[in-house]
Amino acid sequence: MPMMFPRILSNRALLFLGLFQAGWRSLASGPELRDPPKRIAVVGAGIGGTAAAFFLRQEFGTGVKIDVFEPGAIGGRLATQNIGGYEYETGGAVIHPLNLHMKHFLEKLGLSQRSEVPGKMAIFDGKELIFEESDWFIVTFLRLLWRYGFNFLRMQMWVESVLDKFMRIYQYQQYGYSFTSVEKLLHAMGGDSFLTLANQTLEEAMLGEGFSQSFLDKVVTPITRVNYGQSVRINGFVGAVALAGADPGLWAVDGGNKKVCSGLLYHSKAELIPAKVTSISFKQRSSKAGTTATFYEVNYVGDSGSAHSLYDLVFVATPLHPGKSDISFEGFSPPIPSHYPGRYQQTVTTLVHGRLNTSYLGTSEKPSAFTVSEVLTTDNKASVVNSLSSIDPVHIPPGYIRPPASASKVWKIFSHEPLSQNQLQDVFLSLDSTWEKKWLAYPTYSAPHRSAPPFILHDHLYYLSPVEWAASAMEMSAISARNLALLAHHRWHSQPGRIDQEDLHTRLRGEL
Ligand SMILES: Cc1cc2nc3c(=O)[nH]c(=O)nc-3n(C[C@H](O)[C@H](O)[C@H](O)COP(=O)(O)OP(=O)(O)OC[C@H]3O[C@@H](n4cnc5c(N)ncnc54)[C@H](O)[C@@H]3O)c2cc1C
Ligand SMILES: *[C@@H]1O[C@H](CO)[C@@H](O)[C@H](O)[C@H]1NC(C)=O
Ligand SMILES: *[C@@H]1O[C@H](CO)[C@@H](O)[C@H](O)[C@H]1NC(C)=O
Repeated sequence: MPMMFPRILSNRALLFLGLFQAGWRSLASGPELRDPPKRIAVVGAGIGGTAAAFFLRQEFGTGVKIDVFEPGAIGGRLATQNIGGYEYETGGAVIHPLNLHMKHFLEKLGLSQRSEVPGKMAIFDGKELIFEESDWFIVTFLRLLWRYGFNFLRMQMWVESVLDKFMRIYQYQQYGYSFTSVEKLLHAMGGDSFLTLANQTLEEAMLGEGFSQSFLDKVVTPITRVNYGQSVRINGFVGAVALAGADPGLWAVDGGNKKVCSGLLYHSKAELIPAKVTSISFKQRSSKAGTTATFYEVNYVGDSGSAHSLYDLVFVATPLHPGKSDISFEGFSPPIPSHYPGRYQQTVTTLVHGRLNTSYLGTSEKPSAFTVSEVLTTDNKASVVNSLSSIDPVHIPPGYIRPPASASKVWKIFSHEPLSQNQLQDVFLSLDSTWEKKWLAYPTYSAPHRSAPPFILHDHLYYLSPVEWAASAMEMSAISARNLALLAHHRWHSQPGRIDQEDLHTRLRGEL
């Protein structure tokens, strides 16, 4: 969601960019290790699963066979749709400038960032636009200052203080440190302050910090609505992530974000198995020598029927929640459920090629002069729409200029429920074509933060998606993938020294 509240990002966090030069093992020489696993399975080829394949290859070397199971399109919730000959993002769309794993992937894979098309943001309350960004930075700045006093400056400082702590994870991971639960990961980054944040609603946290209710209703709510389809009653941690999604400098991948997933898969030399995993069973076999070997049997169904294979290590990189997957786990004690508590939030993406009825937004500006590209909405009965954006193709052709609202062009609407033809006709003067996708997009958040499902389901069976209960974003899945590849490595080699270490921030302070 490209929004450009005027803001100057601190350069402090950028220091970390140099960190990816060397892996953690080149920083410290380790003892002799036992043989690496022979076969690894990854379930799901979204950004989480493909990043896991990439990091597992990095941790365990070239000898291990990695299979990635995916019945659908590579990319999962990163997907594009063709409208009138151009591709448009329909799922995860924008990436924060300080999402260092995503940046690193682009570098590794030889991909580039999509060219920027400047845009303007406005906020709609169901009747009219209560805020409209100006072409002039200083005018926008003064408008915000006039309306909301210092609330918005303080919001930026507040988000930045969270971001500063968040950035610590990159240093920890570069030094090979890993964590066994979402809560321990959060605690390592931000100490008790992150857990307290996750225990409160964003509203409680911000009111507690002295922000006004009107600022929460008119500025913060529209941001949580566009980014998570939910109100300010989401927990404070995911709320801060949502607010960071209003920073300047947001970017996307040239050619489509999902290109990162296919690139990671290729780079990791993993084999893609186009099949759906139906069950994972724990198997033990005793040899003549009296030792017992343990395996995971992955059962799957593809076009050529059902089959199964044995693995030493398995990564589950799809949410285990109703509507997201249906995998049964057999032979485990204690049992592993197919579904964990909590549900995923429906967000409907509607792409419309058509001409906007600017009067719907209560503006008297001429459509040919109306250049707002991003309309956020307050929580109001009058509007069924969470957000409305004029979107650009995943690849920006040279000389591209975003058409004004008077032209027929592609708009993206996020809403909670599918929109009827009548509802669309209220918003558009003409509808050349429409396309709709119902996503189970991200968790339905609440506070106190529901304790997340475990990362470790069994000895060498790992689960990547619990991180989404802290916050769902491409970068969060990448962070989880790196964390679990490190954790799987340390546990495979029985090296507890880099697992769940306390007080890393102080201990590593001198190392930068
Ligand atoms: C509309 C929308 C907007 C968003 N906006 C942003 C944004 O702007 N920025 C951002 O960072 N994030 C955004 N997100 C969130 C982001 O897309 C997700 O957090 C991220 O893509 C999750 O990746 P993942 O790999 O963990 O999961 P997924 O992408 O869901 O991947 C899981 C994969 O597992 C596969 N799978 C399921 N069951 C099985 C099985 N039994 N066997 C084998 N495979 C299976 C699925 O087919 C899927 O491909 C948005 C999401 C949506 C839906
Ligand atoms: C968060 O809430 C849980 C239970 O609701 C509690 O156990 C935990 O101590 C709380 N943590 C903090 C830091 O407030
Ligand atoms: C455009 O929207 C306005 C305000 O909602 C409405 O009165 C008008 O009828 C709409 N125009 C068309 C052509 O639908």
